[in-house]
Amino acid sequence: MARYELVKRSVALITLTNPPVNALSSAVRHGIAKTMERALSDPKVTAVVICGENGRFCGGADIREFAGPLRGPPLVPLLDSIEAGEKPVVAAIEGVALGGGLELALFCHYRIAHFKARLGLPEVTLGILPAAGGTQRLPRLIGIPAALELITTGRHVSAQEALKLGIVDQVTEQNACEVAVEFALRAVAKPLSSRRLSSLTTPCPPNLDALLEAVTMQIQKKARGVMAPLACVQAVRAAATMPYSQGIKRESELMATLFNSGQARALQYCFFAERTAGKWTLPSGAQWNDIKPREIRSAAVIGLGTMGRGIAVSLARVGIPVIAVESDKKLLETGRQMVIGMLERDAKRRGVSASHNLLKFTLGLQDLKDVDLVIEAVFEDMALKKSVFRELSKVCRPATLFCTNTSGLDVDALAGVTDRPQLVIGMHFFSPAHVMKLLEVVCGPRSSSEIVATAMSLGKRMGKVSVAVGNCPGFVGNRMLKPYSDQATFLLEEGATPEQIDKALEDFGFAMGVFRMSDLAGLDVGWRVRKESGLTGPDVDPKNPPRRRQGRKYCPIPDMVCEQGRFGQKTGRGWYMYDKPGGTKAKPDPLIQNLIEMYRNRYGIQPRNITDQEIIERCLFALANEGFRILEDGIAARPEDIDVIYLFGYGFPRHRGGPMFYASMVGLQRVLERLEHYHQAHPDVPHLEPSPLLKKLVACGSPPVQKWREHIKTMHSHL
Ligand code: 3HC
Ligand code: NAI
Repeated sequence: MARYELVKRSVALITLTNPPVNALSSAVRHGIAKTMERALSDPKVTAVVICGENGRFCGGADIREFAGPLRGPPLVPLLDSIEAGEKPVVAAIEGVALGGGLELALFCHYRIAHFKARLGLPEVTLGILPAAGGTQRLPRLIGIPAALELITTGRHVSAQEALKLGIVDQVTEQNACEVAVEFALRAVAKPLSSRRLSSLTTPCPPNLDALLEAVTMQIQKKARGVMAPLACVQAVRAAATMPYSQGIKRESELMATLFNSGQARALQYCFFAERTAGKWTLPSGAQWNDIKPREIRSAAVIGLGTMGRGIAVSLARVGIPVIAVESDKKLLETGRQMVIGMLERDAKRRGVSASHNLLKFTLGLQDLKDVDLVIEAVFEDMALKKSVFRELSKVCRPATLFCTNTSGLDVDALAGVTDRPQLVIGMHFFSPAHVMKLLEVVCGPRSSSEIVATAMSLGKRMGKVSVAVGNCPGFVGNRMLKPYSDQATFLLEEGATPEQIDKALEDFGFAMGVFRMSDLAGLDVGWRVRKESGLTGPDVDPKNPPRRRQGRKYCPIPDMVCEQGRFGQKTGRGWYMYDKPGGTKAKPDPLIQNLIEMYRNRYGIQPRNITDQEIIERCLFALANEGFRILEDGIAARPEDIDVIYLFGYGFPRHRGGPMFYASMVGLQRVLERLEHYHQAHPDVPHLEPSPLLKKLVACGSPPVQKWREHIKTMHSHL
């Protein structure tokens, strides 16, 4: 796992060989120990270079080993011997030096980076801290403010920035290993004492306390309830205020508090879940690694509204020529200006030039005859979408792939009106489409494996986290959202306020509670859907008992809010009030309180005191319960897929791992008991009735989330 060679007669070249990222597994640590010992004891060797195989220095500790007991040599004593040696050791950094990888480089006396390399201490994103000396050595090297920022955010820096900060000694466009060998030869005669970071004093700013306080407050505001960044601040404080030997002890004490925490487990689960999500399998057996996606050289977007604009930008910025279509001249011109403005702002932010020449705007579908792929983003109206797809079948060449960005309509029904149902798929983007990372790829029963592969690969090319899901109303994300938001409105009826519910959810970790989020998205969208499905409006059967629709409990408060023209932020009024239309600062509105009170009086509802615990349990257990049904129905292949959808599309707090992981951490037995309890109290709310899969998993001893698949029937798979 670490190869040893003698080069230029006197330089020991140690290459880490643990593909794909040369993670510091126990075998690699053994390898480093053995090869370093050999290099330091061989009198022929005057200097050492450490590099990684396949152009990647090292991706850090092997995260997969965190779940088990520590095996192999511990990292810090091993790295101490590198620093303490009398022969210069140079790290040749290509690709990445992340986490323990960068810490290894910080124990070396010199660091040479290839100009394309990225460096960083991303441990905080895994719920831990850089515990191989990173929190003590980086501040000594680059000072407290810069080290604090890198360690508390986990941000990766480019080689150029690393040079500017003083993390590396040289950046090269040539082979970093060869450059490092030459560098090492020149370093042989030089004294090493000033190159040993452990012997340096941390350069300390005069306002240390104020700086640490400000960063702590910033973290508490941005990452409410997240432990690791706060522990990182404490570790960096130790680097500033303690000698190295004590600081390193403090670092390891703080790591001990984080290492086995639920947050660390959740964040590490997220790391792997994100990577698992791209690995789709269809009932036919076709899967991600054996189907070749089609190359997409041109695309079209139909409808330049909220979604179409962002989708056009997402395609153009990765170099795909786009033809954008609108329904009339004025809308086309507005859409054109918006798309170009968005593309320019995006390019400016990324420091590249905007790719205007890739965009064409037209009113005629006939201009799409030669494109490789079309993404339809017109209004959420089945008849309209069908007419668009009928028309497309006539004008596009037979090989063109058809995608719909519907947020919940039947993808197969749309496929059915085309001349190529096997080439039709859903690509469900999230708003704003050029910003949000999630893409649900909705596979209809007739979608071919080739189109699934192509949509997944196009999503990846656009920088999205793509998840393949089955076709059902609302797919995965929006289907689960319904029980979650229904619970929130039922809690309003029973005695809670929008701000109490939002606060409980935000304290849990959501960036926004359900009501603030609805105000942001626009309340009219859901109102229109409810009217179309006969839940409210003139089509409702007057014989319906109040507060019941279609045989189940229904809360009309959201409709009453919309009837007053309160559509959320865009109208300056919604569940909250805002200083102006488009304002973002939400203030509780006494009118909403009155509306809810009048409603309760009308139906004789006695408000009761509702605890935050009840809010969390009712909203989140109902959410997870629907997730279990989705797994049962074969709409999602794995709990990881559901969690990834909620993390990237719905702002579920990452340190909780996603709704399914959260349920497993609470304990499936407890989730089952609480759902049974709430269902007994609300028998007319089917979403609270525990799903058969949840019951089955509990009966099987509540296996960990990674093992649920073994208990899920696959015969119903829609994927
Ligand atoms: N440990 C174990 N497996 C790892 C790993 C690691 N540190 N880093 C990546 N992998 C695995 C991935 O799970 C994936 O496995 P798969 O093929 O089975 O799905 C494979 O390596 C390739 O990874 P990516 O798909 O992410 O490849 P990319 O090329 O897109 O990205 C990367 C490469 C930037 C290195 C990215 O993998 C990454 O960010 N890795 C994690 C880096 C990190 O957080 N390091 C800190 C670890 S904790 C630590 O070092 C503690 C220390 O302080 C003691
Ligand atoms: P929107 O109302 O903002 O835009 C729709 C656009 O389509 C309008 O500009 C309209 O002029 C245009 N259009 C209508 N008929 C057309 C035709 N025949 N030819 C060309 N253009 C036509 O709607 P939005 O929000 O962009 O939604 C579009 C689709 O995306 C819907 O299916 C919606 O459900 C879905 N969606 C919406 C999300 C959101 O947050 N807004 C999120 C995810 C999906």
